[in-house]
This record gives sequence, structure tokens and C-alpha cells, in this order.
Amino acid sequence: MPTTCVIGILWGDEGKGKVIDYLAAETDFVVRFGGGHNAGHTLVLPPAIAGEGKLVLHLVPSGIVHAHAVNVIGNGVVVDPIHLCDEIEKLQKRGLRVELGDNLLVSERAHVILGAHQRQDQLAEQSRGSGRIGTTGRGIGPAYSDRCSRIGMRVGDLVRPEALRKVLTALVEQKNALFAQAGIDLLDFDSMYAELIAVGEKLRPGIVDAGLALRRAQSAGKRILLEGAQGCLLDLEHGTYPFVTSSHSSTGGAFSGTGLPPHEMRTIGIVKAYATRVGEGPFPTELHDDTAERLRAAGKEYGSTTGRPRRIGWFDTVAVRYSGGISGAKELVLTSLDVLQGFPLKMATAYRLADGTETLDMPAFDLETVEPQFVEMPGFDENICDVRDFDELPQNAKNYVAAIEEQTGMRISTVSVGPGRDQVIQR
Ligand code: GDP
Ligand code: IMO
Ligand code: MG
Repeated sequence: MPTTCVIGILWGDEGKGKVIDYLAAETDFVVRFGGGHNAGHTLVLPPAIAGEGKLVLHLVPSGIVHAHAVNVIGNGVVVDPIHLCDEIEKLQKRGLRVELGDNLLVSERAHVILGAHQRQDQLAEQSRGSGRIGTTGRGIGPAYSDRCSRIGMRVGDLVRPEALRKVLTALVEQKNALFAQAGIDLLDFDSMYAELIAVGEKLRPGIVDAGLALRRAQSAGKRILLEGAQGCLLDLEHGTYPFVTSSHSSTGGAFSGTGLPPHEMRTIGIVKAYATRVGEGPFPTELHDDTAERLRAAGKEYGSTTGRPRRIGWFDTVAVRYSGGISGAKELVLTSLDVLQGFPLKMATAYRLADGTETLDMPAFDLETVEPQFVEMPGFDENICDVRDFDELPQNAKNYVAAIEEQTGMRISTVSVGPGRDQVIQR
């Protein structure tokens, strides 16, 4: 199947970047279809590439390290053009080839995030008080809101001075009414216009009809890898609303966010061997004890975008089954199994609801009141980071993988045993 879609199964940070970098070796196009620079996708590369160590990508797709791959920022993404220029420059400084119009394309239909959206994001969070979402503060929600309100600015406007003037005039008027009410500094049209024209000039060679390019590539039989950001439980429609992001981060967004028509594809769900979440919102299997601290330290669980400590919990088969259903993923990559060395292996298999009944299905409401029902299995003490053959994993680790497959009905095709590109076990 020429198209593969990689989707985060829970609340993001499952290790999508590592898996996409791994899969990009055998693909022609790598395409982001949603979210913006709220994403943080980590690649840990061999020393010969981009200097030793990790590379965190926020907006540039995770295929950028592979010289042959064309990386596309699709129409479903919200693009902060200033951030994008900075990110490109940082990658180039690390010796990576990033050439707009050649191996990096940006959809002219993608919407623009302005500094004003970030301010609006922060104001909205302040006004939510204890009901805050814990956003990344990057202006994601307000930019998507403007798109829905049909007053948004598109990337193509950045290279059309008259169109830009028109859309910016309306946006400045709308934001200034809001900022005047909040008593914060007003926007200055002239300086914003000049900055956007300048950044548009820098991005001009890469601004294209990306949907058309992708449809042509698809017709020509090119291999396309769709890079999910965030995860199914942060999806605007299917996630733990309202504690979600503002895009369609499950598979549905892969079509609307690229301009590719719905078609059969291989959908791979990425899931950690335990659960994490950054920001606020319900998290049924969350741990609040010393085990959470130890797992956070062992897995280095701090946000790739904001540096916030990630909340930690046990594997949740109720949530994974649900996400498998909405994403269509029949196959999982199980990441960070190595982190569970020396820990008990625990997973939720059902939720008890407030009325005492048990369910195997993810409820849309009152998730904070459910009591997960756990099964516990004996753990393993061996370091598994260097294992490359599934049969050589400790028996208890293999039992855990088998139990997840049984509970979720999904096949674990790959197990990741460390952050490095080669630390994978294919089955
Ligand atoms: P993404 O947003 O889904 O791309 O994930 P992030 O990059 O935000 O977070 C995943 C973190 O786990 C990163 O620090 C990765 O380097 C790391 N990681 C990925 N796979 C593994 C693994 O199998 N084992 C360990 N120990 N770390 C991993
Ligand atoms: P990747 O692609 C983890 C979370 C935020 C917050 C909520 C809404 O790296 O997996 P937003 O700024 O999008 O309005 O915040 O969504 N969030 C993520 N959490 N990984 C991500 O991306 C995230 N992108 C957004 O923490 O709870
Ligand atoms: Mg991340």
C-alpha cells in the first residue's frame, strides 16, 4: 500500500517522531496534516547525521533528515511563519539540507498563526482559571478559530500583498477590539504587514498547491507517509473534550488536512508501554505516587515543546481500543518498553463507572470519575535496550506485549526499546 499514516494513540508524545524518521527511509513524501508548533517530535540520530544527539522538530516534518524525501506541511497545519523560518535556519545550522521548493513544501492553503493568536491563547487560558486546558500557548486554538470564523490568513496571502492587506486589516481590527477590552497593547498594522511581507518573501519558493502535488504523487504511485501530530485523545472531535487541541489529530484529519481523497492506507498507531499526558484534563490511569516520579525520571518524561513534566500512568487498554476504533489502526508500534525495566507491568482492562457498572468502552462524559480496573503482571529486571530480536526479550516482557495484543485486538508489529533510530524490534 503506497500510503502509510502514523497516528498517536493517546495524548501525544508516544514517539511518533522516532517512528516516522525510521519509516521515512522507505518513503518519497512525509506530510504533516494537522496541528502546528505545539507538536514536538524527537529524533535521536546516529552521530554522523546532524551532529550527535537529539533533534526536536515542531513544524518541519520528521522526514527531513532523509535526503531523498520531500517534506510537506499540509493545508490542515497552522503555520507560524516566523517560527518556521527559525526552525529551518536551526536545522540548516546543524548541517541538514532544507530547501524550500525542493525538499520542503508548504501548502498555500495552510492557515497562519500570528503573534496575536499567541496572546489570545494566553488570555483565554487566564480567563478559564481553574478550568484551563494547559495549552502550549502557541496560538493554536485561536488560529483554528479564525479559520472556522472565515477570517483567517492563509500562507498564500503572505505572497499576495493586496490580499494580505485586506485580511490583515480585518484581523487587526478584530484583535484590537479584544485587546482593548483586556487592557493589553494594541497591534500595529504597519509593522505587522512589513514583517509578514518579509517572511513571505523568505518562504515564497516553498509555497505551493501542496494538495495538487500530493494527488499527482499518489497517481504516480509515490510512497506517502502521513505524519500525525498530537494523538487521538487530543482530537477535537473524538478526544477528551474540552481538554483537547483544536485540530483533527486522528486519521480523519489526514484527508482533510492534505487534500488527498479518502483511500485505503496502512494506519499505524503509536503507543507507549505506559501512558503520559501533558496539560490538564482527565487521565483515568494516572499515578500520583513515587512510581510516577520514578517512571518520569526513567523515561525522561518532560514535554518536547514546553519542557513541562508529563503526567504518568499505567497502560490503558480501554483508551487504546477506543483510539484503535476511531483511527482505524490495526497495528501498533509499542514504544519505551525499555523504560519499564524494574517496574511492575500493569494495565487497565475496564472502567468502573460511578453507578457501579463496568464498561469496556470509553465514555464521552465524566471520565474523571471512572475507576480503572487493573491487571498486574510480573515485570522484568533485564536491560532490553540492545535486544533486536523479539524472541530474546525477557519472557515477562513478551507476556506483556501478548496481553496488550489480546486486550486491544491490535497487532504489535514493532517494539521500540530506546530513543535511538536503530533501537527497534520488528516482528
Ligand atoms: P512524539 O511527539 O510522539 O514524536 O514524541 P516526543 O518526541 O514528544 O516524546 C517521545 C520521547 O520518547 C522522546 O524523548 C523520544 O526520544 C523518546 N523515545 C521514543 N521511543 C523511545 C523508546 O522506545 N524508549 C525510550 N526510552 N525513549 C523513547
Ligand atoms: P506531539 O505531536 C502532547 C496538548 C497540550 C494541551 C492541549 C491543547 O508532540 O505529540 P494546544 O496548544 O494544542 O491548544 O494545547 O494539547 N498538546 C500536546 N500534548 N503532545 C503534543 O504534540 C501536543 N500538542 C498539544 O499540552 O493539553
Ligand atoms: Mg511530542
